[in-house]
Amino acid sequence: APVAILISGRGSNMAALLRAAEAPDCPWRVVLVGANDPDAAGLETARAAGVPTWAHSHKGLNRADYDALVDAAVRAAGAEWIALAGYMRLLSPGFVSAWAGRIVNIHPSLLPLHKGLDTHARAIEAGDVEAGCSVHIVTAELDDGPVIAQARVPVLPGDTPETLAARVLVEEHRLYPKALTELVTR
Ligand code: GRF
Repeated sequence: APVAILISGRGSNMAALLRAAEAPDCPWRVVLVGANDPDAAGLETARAAGVPTWAHSHKGLNRADYDALVDAAVRAAGAEWIALAGYMRLLSPGFVSAWAGRIVNIHPSLLPLHKGLDTHARAIEAGDVEAGCSVHIVTAELDDGPVIAQARVPVLPGDTPETLAARVLVEEHRLYPKALTELVTR
């Protein structure tokens, strides 16, 4: 199954997906890494791995017009699935419905808890004893849509948002490839 990955920054989840795609029995392959920030560090990682990249800033474009560019790029690459990996843009309703059920996202919380930003600070603030990450189907609502898979970690005494984020990120890198495999083979 051909997958396009969309990123905005570092791209460590993207890198985990690229690594997993190297397995001979992996049922999906990465046909494009796209970014809304031409300076996203993950683009360089993708290029170094020999994966086609596409980058276009969203600046000065409305959401629907920008998403039309993304749509054209991912279709031209032959993608049938889109995996968001630290993609910091809300998708327009038209784009989401055109790709209904075929866009996935990874979010660093145990959804439905802590949608949106600053998830780790909010988990600590709330006194949660567990944190984690969720892979879910993208709908028009932010960090909403059916959850495909989750991984859990403990919140430890003395955790800061940074130490908790690092513990969760390790699980994100394991969970995302597995969840994508589950999704494209079901
Ligand atoms: C990850 O924690 C992801 O769950 C969240 O943003 C972060 C992106 O990190 N949506 P990276 O770019 O994959 O390293």
